[in-house]
Amino acid sequence: MRVLVTGGCGFIGSNLVRLIRAIRPAWHVTNLDLMTYAAHPDGLSDLAQDPQYRFVRGDIADGPLVQDLARNVDGILHLAAESHVDRSIVDAAPFIRTNVDGTRVLLDAARRFGLRFLHVSTDEVYGSLGPTGSFTEATPLAPNSPYAAAKASSDLLVRAYRETYGLDAVITRCSNNYGPYQFPEKMIPLFVTRLMQDQSIPLYGDGGNIRDWLHVQDHARALLLSYENGRGGEVYNIGARNEWTNLALTHELLRLMDKPHSLIQPVTDRLGHDRRYSIDPSKIEQELGWFPTIPFTGGLVKTVAWYQTNAAWWRPLVSQASLARVPADADGSNDDRSPACAS
Ligand code: NAD
Ligand code: DAU
Repeated sequence: MRVLVTGGCGFIGSNLVRLIRAIRPAWHVTNLDLMTYAAHPDGLSDLAQDPQYRFVRGDIADGPLVQDLARNVDGILHLAAESHVDRSIVDAAPFIRTNVDGTRVLLDAARRFGLRFLHVSTDEVYGSLGPTGSFTEATPLAPNSPYAAAKASSDLLVRAYRETYGLDAVITRCSNNYGPYQFPEKMIPLFVTRLMQDQSIPLYGDGGNIRDWLHVQDHARALLLSYENGRGGEVYNIGARNEWTNLALTHELLRLMDKPHSLIQPVTDRLGHDRRYSIDPSKIEQELGWFPTIPFTGGLVKTVAWYQTNAAWWRPLVSQASLARVPADADGSNDDRSPACAS
């Protein structure tokens, strides 16, 4: 099996590439990544000598490059995206370009060469829930942020290519991920790295927003399973039934790191801030036999410990993480860093 993984130098993509190489040793993985600000320059450097792994620095919106890579693979696992909601509120343009047009370019290549296509989407396409109920695969799409709208648009393109051309495509929609190597602009790594420096942590609004947290390695397993065994044309929700208010999670981080509550800094709420996400993962559990394996409490302790012992990884990224809060500089894409994601 030869697969093209897009966004393999990102948080979830790097975990997926590592998983594939570990448990599908006969597979050949080509990783296409533009190396934006969110990519890990050395995240997969241990694979540099692996003959079954190839890194290509490039843009998923580059048609000729994508066609060239696609002609030599059996399928595409598509993760590349602009992924941070706050950045999309500052400037939606890179989100439309990569998440929508980039996906269209990949779909055209998959169609031309008859490839299997796994589209990695998000629960944010469903919008926001009230205090009860959960998103199922039948929940109507109602995205609220430019990021979520771009992801929902790409989901609809995938659906259209399935209906129009019979593309063998599967869509997954996962809840919030946490774990090592998450860029320190997202809530958990932002708060942990700031607390390590005894800096205040910016809690949006009243802290009552709810997110459903899953360890990134459990997500990666679900993606591989969906690619291998998911039924073409189907959507699979992925989540751990693990809902926390942001305030409760903040208190848990303070407790784990033995830091005072006075470091919580309530700040103006995110525009259009979704109140609650909750995933019903029954379908992937029943059809594909996937269940999360990493309990949140243990996973969170290990994640905090990882950031504590890997300050050399996140310290150079902190100044870029703050770009999301400074509109004039918040382009965020195409940052020219070393293309050393195991090239
Ligand atoms: P990330 O921001 O950490 O990584 C994205 C990767 O995509 C980076 O390596 C970046 O360089 C690459 N990329 C961006 N634009 C590109 C382009 N035009 N061409 C090629 N590569 C490009 O993102 P992540 O958190 O790992 O998310 C991966 C996927 O999973 C995304 O599609 C996201 O929507 C989805 N998702 C994320 C979460 C989460 O909690 N992080 C949850 C559900 C779904
Ligand atoms: O649900 C899946 C989505 O989860 C993915 O599709 C996105 O790519 C990923 O970024 C994530 O989106 P969120 O917006 O939920 O994640 P974020 O870490 O940005 O925020 C989590 C919650 O914490 C959210 O309610 C906003 C809040 N928050 C976030 C930041 C960065 C704060 O209170 N303060 C902050 O500084």
